[in-house]
Amino acid sequence: MQKLSANHVAIIMDGNGRWAQSRSHSRFYGHIRGAKVAKNIIEHASSIGLKHLTLFAFSTENWFRPVEEVSLLMKLLLKQMERERSNLVKNNIQFHCIGELHRLPPAVQASINKSIEQTKDNTGLVLTFALSYSGRQDLTAAVRLLAEKIENKELQSQEINEQLLSLALPSSFLPDPDLIIRTSGESRLSNFFLWQAAYSEIYVTPKMWPEFTLNDFNSAINYYQSRERRFGRTSHQVHERLDSSALPNN
Ligand code: IPE
Ligand code: IPE
Ligand code: MG
Repeated sequence: MQKLSANHVAIIMDGNGRWAQSRSHSRFYGHIRGAKVAKNIIEHASSIGLKHLTLFAFSTENWFRPVEEVSLLMKLLLKQMERERSNLVKNNIQFHCIGELHRLPPAVQASINKSIEQTKDNTGLVLTFALSYSGRQDLTAAVRLLAEKIENKELQSQEINEQLLSLALPSSFLPDPDLIIRTSGESRLSNFFLWQAAYSEIYVTPKMWPEFTLNDFNSAINYYQSRERRFGRTSHQVHERLDSSALPNN
């Protein structure tokens, strides 16, 4: 088994449409191929003992795409959800979703809830789909929760600190991502994990998501392992401590 030091890997799975169109296929064909890649990466991450894998599959802004594309994406999501549930159970994967799930079609919501329920006692990979998700929406929800607590006199504004804000995020069950992988060569977060990415290592590959392989995933992990995470300290300080994982990461 490959020894991983990354605890949480998050992936911005980008480039399905361009990959397909450059091969004279429809964008939707790219999404179908992308779904297959996601399945392979999930099973690989689970088999190598990664603790957390988060996949950014559909952003808040993606709702603005043409209606037909959104509708086909939702159908694909439902199909994959139904098809893969037994594999999640079998592979001891605990499934979660983050994002404005109430905006998803009811059938998709029901299917997601079924997978969450059936995998809740699993102890292996924690797999999270970011669906109808945006980092700003995540932060907005946290601020709203804290404001409600102040209104209800459960909290005073002076008590708010970074830790409380982190805990108020709907995604607070996840540790900050150690590594964020983005395919398709775009060097941007596109509204993903804005708060949590403060000290994430970012790996951008020119490969489009449908052509991303297990080897590419391993290369990203190797890249991560070669980094020096300083969290604002000097290199000397990091070496003095020997174990940089002892440094606070937010
Ligand atoms: C990523 O691929 C999948 C989603 C965002 C749903 P894209 O659909 O963004 O593909 P490109 O980036 O247009 O090629
Ligand atoms: C980011 O990809 C969102 C997902 C991968 C789900 P986009 O294709 O939506 O991002 P932009 O528009 O290129 O920034
Ligand atoms: Mg894209």
